[in-house]
Amino acid sequence: MVTGGAGFIGSHVVKLLAGKYPASKIVVFDALTYAGNLANLQELDGLDNYVFVKGDITDVDSVRRVLEEYGVDTILNLAAESHVDRSITDPLIFARTNVMGILTLLHAAREYWGDQLEGKLFYHISTDEVYGSLGFEDGPFTEQTPYSPRSPYSASKASSDHFVRAFGETYGMPIIISNCSNNYGPYQFPEKLIPLTVNNIRNGKPIPVYGKGENVRDWLYVGDHARAIDLIMNHGTPGETYNIGGDCEISNIEVVKTLIEITDRLLGRPEGASADLITFVKDRSGHDLRYAIDHSKLTRELGWRPATAFRDGIEHTVKWYLENSAWLKGVTSGEYLDYYTKMYASR
Ligand code: NAD
Ligand code: DAU
Repeated sequence: MVTGGAGFIGSHVVKLLAGKYPASKIVVFDALTYAGNLANLQELDGLDNYVFVKGDITDVDSVRRVLEEYGVDTILNLAAESHVDRSITDPLIFARTNVMGILTLLHAAREYWGDQLEGKLFYHISTDEVYGSLGFEDGPFTEQTPYSPRSPYSASKASSDHFVRAFGETYGMPIIISNCSNNYGPYQFPEKLIPLTVNNIRNGKPIPVYGKGENVRDWLYVGDHARAIDLIMNHGTPGETYNIGGDCEISNIEVVKTLIEITDRLLGRPEGASADLITFVKDRSGHDLRYAIDHSKLTRELGWRPATAFRDGIEHTVKWYLENSAWLKGVTSGEYLDYYTKMYASR
């Protein structure tokens, strides 16, 4: 059961698993919020080993029904509210989904699995943001770095991590957590820096760069994250945490400049044509300065390392957004925004 499987990372994970494990049934459970999109999974339509169920992880009855109907033995939890800026304007929904939702999933899994825990796994996908913010001179986050979340989003993710560990300790549930750095690639919702920037360059709109653009993120191609999740699901040790990162620290302004260079070239525009779209705007409140991940545990124990060089991954990603303008238009249409507004109103 992959929750959040219709979102950005979830859809890459589901497509990897569906192709790799034809004899396993993969149940995607997703509420299809503004960030979830069945178009992300279209290529799986008709496959015998994949089924989609629309449902909310905070709804215990729906979760129970799916666990029983499909005899779920493994839960990969990717369902979440995932955007930091939205968490600043509306923190409540982050607590609802990222805290109560994960607790509901854990509770239902515990009820359903009982003491038959052999071959069961609750694998929670988390973020490096739970560790807080690094200074420019600090060493990277390790699995021992104390939690120090600084935004409502990261506080809600930290809370979910604590609940997952608590279920491991208290009830002996086989759990694993991985904490990953910033992902990029096709199918990312264009509220996040990379797809937003490509979209704005294409449409000649200003590119908002928060503060001075000096904040640093550790970028990982989404396919490399999906590969790590598959590896950890199959070979990770229950009870353990694994950091996943890209060995690729880049400041936001450098990311934006790279996107301008690639996008202008692919659109046949003169070099630097879109440079004046860069617009420095008011900084994000509580903006974490820098993230960097030490993934040596995952490399040492399971042999994983990032395989996609940023230059290759970003070129492929920009091409994908330019060639899939229908997808971009679909997810930025009024219909999606209306859905989001209605969802808020009903909660
Ligand atoms: P996303 O916002 O693209 O997708 C989230 C998915 O969860 C959507 O399909 C949405 O419909 C679904 N969802 C939301 N609320 C739900 C609910 N109540 N019930 C069921 N489904 C619900 O997110 P993403 O970027 O793919 O991130 C997936 C996970 O990975 C999140 O837990 C996030 O914290 C974590 N993560 C993301 C990144 C990143 O760079 N994007 C990095 C590290 C970790
Ligand atoms: O580190 C992992 C996290 O990465 C995930 O847990 C989150 O789900 C994911 O959204 C991402 O969080 P960030 O806040 O780092 O991603 P975002 O794309 O929103 O922003 C990346 C950087 O770019 C950040 O420093 C803020 C900045 N930014 C962002 C936007 C949207 C801008 O300067 N301008 C923008 O318009």
